[in-house]
Amino acid sequence: MAMRLRLGVFVSGGGTNLQSLIDNCRDPAFPAELVVVVSNKTGAYGLSRAEQAGIPSLCVPHRDFASRQEHEREILRQIQPFGVDLVALAGYMRVVTPVLLQGLPGMVNIHPADTRAYQGAHGYEFAMGLLPEFPQRLEQTHITVHYVDAGVDTGEIIKQAPVPILPEDSIDDLRARGLAVEHRLYPEVIRMVAERRLALAEKVN
Ligand code: GRF
Repeated sequence: MAMRLRLGVFVSGGGTNLQSLIDNCRDPAFPAELVVVVSNKTGAYGLSRAEQAGIPSLCVPHRDFASRQEHEREILRQIQPFGVDLVALAGYMRVVTPVLLQGLPGMVNIHPADTRAYQGAHGYEFAMGLLPEFPQRLEQTHITVHYVDAGVDTGEIIKQAPVPILPEDSIDDLRARGLAVEHRLYPEVIRMVAERRLALAEKVN
């Protein structure tokens, strides 16, 4: 079998997407292996998931550094020995700078809404019309996997999947339905990259 893609996953919180990637990578037939988990938050549950799965993890709290760039230089220093081919952000609540982007071969992110319509945190609340500046409730949201650039959810879109929003849905109903779709879509995109049906990073003109 060809060499598996060496995947790193960055988290800040609960890490249900991390868990889905752990589960997929456990299958030797999946073309990627999860080699390291990185968190910027001490005590993030994602770190416990990594430990339970026997995957090495790094905790680099951003609060310990004077600038985003210094934080990212330390992440790069610690991640270097793992030789990652691709980083998947999975609920990593930091805007990344060119330091991290240029120091890694490729980076993708997953977002609960269409990134052309809404960027940043609270994507499910956006889709439900719960944010004061976006009062309209949508009929569906589009989970989006995209390349990461130095903006907030502005990188080139790779793949999207629709999730219906039913009239009786609460935010918890939508989040549960959406996360189930996220957990299928993200491994699908990682597989596409690993099988070289996709470039590692957005093409730079
Ligand atoms: C997901 O909804 C993802 O799309 C967004 O942050 C959330 C992370 O959830 N970027 P989890 O930590 O993977 O459960």
